[in-house]
Amino acid sequence: MTLEEKCSLLSGEGNFTTKGVKRLNVPPMFLSDGPHGVRKQAGAADHLGLNASLPATCFPTAASVANSWDPALGEEIGRYLGEECLAQRVNVLLGPGLNMKRSPLCGRNFEYFSEDPYLAGKMAASYIRGIQSKGISACPKHFAANNQEHLRMASDSVVDERTLREIYLTGFEIAVKESKPKCIMSSYNRINGVYASENAKLLQEILVDEWGFDGFVVTDWGGSNDHALSVAAGNHLEMPSTGGTSDLELIDAVRSGKLDEALLDRRVDEYLTVLMDTVIPEDTATAFDVEDHHAMARKAALSSAVLLRNEDNILPLKAGTAVAVIGDFAQTPRYQGAGSSMVNTTKLDSAMDAMQESGLQVVGYAAGFLRHGGEDQAKLDEAVALAKKAQVAVLYLGLDEIAESEGMDRAQMRLNDNQVKLLHAVAQVNSNVVVVFSGGAPVEMPWLEDCKALLHGYLSGQAGAGAVVDLLTGKVNPSGKLAETYPIRYEDTPAYRNFPGAERTTEYREGPFIGYRYYDTAGVPVRFPFGFGLSYTTFAYDQLEVSPTQVRFRITNTGERAGAEIAQVYVSSHGQVFHPVKELKGFTKIYLEAGQSQTVTIPLDDKAFRYFNVKTDRFEVEGGTYDILVGASAADIRLTGSVEVAGTGAPNPYEGLKLPSYESGKVSDVPDAEFAALLGRPIPQTKWDRTRLLDRNDTFAQLCYAKSWVGRLVYRILSGKKKKAEEAGKPDLNILFIYNMPFRGVAKMMGGAFDMAMADALLEIFNGHFFKGVGHLLGARSRMNKRMKAYREALANAGK
Ligand code: BGC
Repeated sequence: MTLEEKCSLLSGEGNFTTKGVKRLNVPPMFLSDGPHGVRKQAGAADHLGLNASLPATCFPTAASVANSWDPALGEEIGRYLGEECLAQRVNVLLGPGLNMKRSPLCGRNFEYFSEDPYLAGKMAASYIRGIQSKGISACPKHFAANNQEHLRMASDSVVDERTLREIYLTGFEIAVKESKPKCIMSSYNRINGVYASENAKLLQEILVDEWGFDGFVVTDWGGSNDHALSVAAGNHLEMPSTGGTSDLELIDAVRSGKLDEALLDRRVDEYLTVLMDTVIPEDTATAFDVEDHHAMARKAALSSAVLLRNEDNILPLKAGTAVAVIGDFAQTPRYQGAGSSMVNTTKLDSAMDAMQESGLQVVGYAAGFLRHGGEDQAKLDEAVALAKKAQVAVLYLGLDEIAESEGMDRAQMRLNDNQVKLLHAVAQVNSNVVVVFSGGAPVEMPWLEDCKALLHGYLSGQAGAGAVVDLLTGKVNPSGKLAETYPIRYEDTPAYRNFPGAERTTEYREGPFIGYRYYDTAGVPVRFPFGFGLSYTTFAYDQLEVSPTQVRFRITNTGERAGAEIAQVYVSSHGQVFHPVKELKGFTKIYLEAGQSQTVTIPLDDKAFRYFNVKTDRFEVEGGTYDILVGASAADIRLTGSVEVAGTGAPNPYEGLKLPSYESGKVSDVPDAEFAALLGRPIPQTKWDRTRLLDRNDTFAQLCYAKSWVGRLVYRILSGKKKKAEEAGKPDLNILFIYNMPFRGVAKMMGGAFDMAMADALLEIFNGHFFKGVGHLLGARSRMNKRMKAYREALANAGK
């Protein structure tokens, strides 16, 4: 290959396609979102899910399926996804997403599995195995420490090394080691000052050298900063297309000696290995069995819904019960999230149809509230009147489409007031209220006492509505358990003071105390603990036997119905090095007939007792006694044993440091000095420095600081549009994307209309040098056009 050909391979041809080399029979590749269904856009492609895609099965989102705690299910879903990729000729499926739920307000939590890296890693690995069993490639994302949407392309995640390794990387480690993904997506953000796509420590030392990754790394869309730096660091492909301008950057870098050509060859080689490995044979079927795939989506939804409350055993509802179906979500289900993961469904179940077919006696339907908030007394009155006529009022409540989305974080954690008001009004006239909830992330539930039962379907996919009715009627026994904690109030969450960060950085001051690791250690009461979920039957645990390598115990179904139980193994350390009081290190899901007992064995693997030691720069084990806690949830420990574990004899890395917040787990307000001590360096400046000029990596949101009126005018227009859309209750994803985009994005996201030199000239204009900037812009444009012409000719003449 010529230098031009090699460089051409490492950036996109279109929004989701890569370039091939025709004369050498190197085919292009097709990459498609997204985690819970295939989103292949046949027409105009965009990366925000704005334009329609080919019909595909919409499975429940990751936040939902994580509640199944069932890797076998994840693998099965993966196989179905893989089959749809084959049918649509997609070589790489851009998922699963396995970032940690650091705050319940991250707008994209619905796409992620859990607040626990062990659970997230196991589930992600299962999807990847399933997807790749079909001969294509999965692409776990977003690697790494990408835990918010606010300023996602510029923000710097300031996180101590131990927390990074134990919390934010362990899920990826499990996924990479246990399922060998052929691709991984680097995240938009910086990690401790370095962009993920340029982070050699992350992409080379950890991913390749430590974990043995042998696939290729793709940037998140528009996430590339300096293409040559990223190729050098271990990021292969840049997406989407920059019209070839990034290829020129690579060529220049090789010619100037900035990038060693041998390293370029290695990247091309690694990339081609996957490319040739994921070619889809010509004779592959172009259709899939829509009904069978829909049934699989229903099966997934059935295993993933969580029964959170069931006072007086009001559920399951008996056949013939007179039910009032209330709530807009019964008519128009909320079953997936917004953004790049949005699937165009093959079909969509409705709760009303499912109710009619269920054997329940439906006395009527009332919308009850305006979906996107606001008062409507007539709707409320109608619902209350209907509730009076029924034995049971089933209320479909939830977060609406604009409450959670890629591209923005949630502003608060409450349910719309009009829904809370409706629930209260209905509860006054009918004491048998069952709430069915949809939404991809926790809400505060001060209203819980107004319902007798609460079934959380999460975002249950295209067949979710039917699955929920099967669970309400007891056709299937609920068996999901929460993969995240439900705090009582947002103020109770550990990152409350530091999420989503100020302008330049987001400080992970809570350290490793995220989710239940915080609530349990600091003694903060919660609404529903991690790992919690009810069933229509009951389970007893006994006969515990523990060793450093495995945990065995017996589970008995002590109720009158068959059902599945999720048993969890937590490890608790008594060592010198501070630790959360317990951490999940194993789990199993087991189906038992009424009265049946079974002994289960859960292995304790290399993650069970390790911690990351910042002094020795590797995982170590403290020798001593560890408690092994077997629970039905993080707060419901049924059996306790202990084991003696031999240590690796490493020194306590925190010896001599004052870390009282971390020692007690009370990390809600860590002082600067203590966070700096944990970081091992001064805390980087987070506020914007008004004396400096804007640079490539500042965002359009920071144009408010521009020296020139042009920049400030652009800011006013953008923020005006953003505000208007928000006030209208419909955030504009395109505007949000630009608002949060760094200036370099102009060269990375506009298909080659600009290159980096032109982006820099634009910055000159914003920085107050209007005429100079315009001159440079025109000059850069003409140079770019000339160079692109020569580059295209070089490609066309290659080998001649
Ligand atoms: C998202 C990715 C997605 C990509 C392509 C980005 O904005 O962060 O998750 O795969 O777009 O659509």
